[in-house]
Amino acid sequence: MTPQELEDGILKLKKDLNAVILAHYYQESEIQDLADFVGDSLELSRKAVSTTADVIVFCGVHFMAETAKILNPQKPVLLPDLLAGCSLSDGCPPNAFKKFREDHPNHLAITYINCSAEVKALSDIICTSSNAEKIVNQIPIDQPILFSPDKNLGAYINKKTGRNMLLWNGSCIVHETFSERKLIGLQLEHPDAELIAHPECEDHILARAKFIGSTSALLKYVQTSLNNKFIVGTEYGIVHQMEKSTTGKTFLPLPPEENCACNECPHMKRNTLEKLYLCMKNMNPQIEMSSDLLTRARKPIERMLAMS
Ligand code: 13P
Ligand code: SF4
Repeated sequence: MTPQELEDGILKLKKDLNAVILAHYYQESEIQDLADFVGDSLELSRKAVSTTADVIVFCGVHFMAETAKILNPQKPVLLPDLLAGCSLSDGCPPNAFKKFREDHPNHLAITYINCSAEVKALSDIICTSSNAEKIVNQIPIDQPILFSPDKNLGAYINKKTGRNMLLWNGSCIVHETFSERKLIGLQLEHPDAELIAHPECEDHILARAKFIGSTSALLKYVQTSLNNKFIVGTEYGIVHQMEKSTTGKTFLPLPPEENCACNECPHMKRNTLEKLYLCMKNMNPQIEMSSDLLTRARKPIERMLAMS
């Protein structure tokens, strides 16, 4: 099928199924353009709660679609490619996380949404990059906290809140590849460009950033900033919305150390227009999990939604 036939087919299936297509900013631009809503992890979770559609088609990675299913256990949630994972989630297996908790029985577990449903079920409160600081600030100062699985986001929140949360040793394969050496070169070449970065980046990159925030916060920043040139310290898919919603602004990718496309999330990019069409046509693959897991994983997500 041609890209046009795929697009037409997706739009027809969307109508026939009364489906909503939710997409993350790191999806291919043609998927973003077909989606009913494009957002960051928190906004996508909220949309999953508020949608009146019968079917949720989630164009993102597995933990995001899983969260939509946990919040909508009665609705089918489709993910174009079930293998669209996340290095943070993969680096935090439930058994090891359970042991981490058992070793620190007095600690509260605040866990980044980039984790499996099993790890969510073992956590007290979930957070995203856009509400982590707000949630941590609501916890009494004498309450020790375990923060998992992203050590970079955890260290950033420790700095912002003055806490000393114990951090799980995990990181994102995309955000840890950015090169400080190449960043300095780019800044010398473009002294008028501001670095904006996602808090999953390492501290030496964040230290040079003019603005740090979730994907949605980065997008809002470039839309409202008086500056016209930005070095973008996150997955480059977000530049599609940055370019679409601004005029005359330049967005430079923050290069990885190697000469590779490592600033693209290989998991996010597993979803293609063709797989999107096929999952809607076949109502497969769908996110499935036991009702016990759904119930246990739901509580810490609901706590997050109530606290943010
Ligand atoms: P956001 O919640 O900021 O969209 O981040 C999700 C993510 O996976 C970043 O790598
Ligand atoms: Fe996970 Fe990193 Fe991809 Fe985000 S960019 S989904 S944190 S691997």
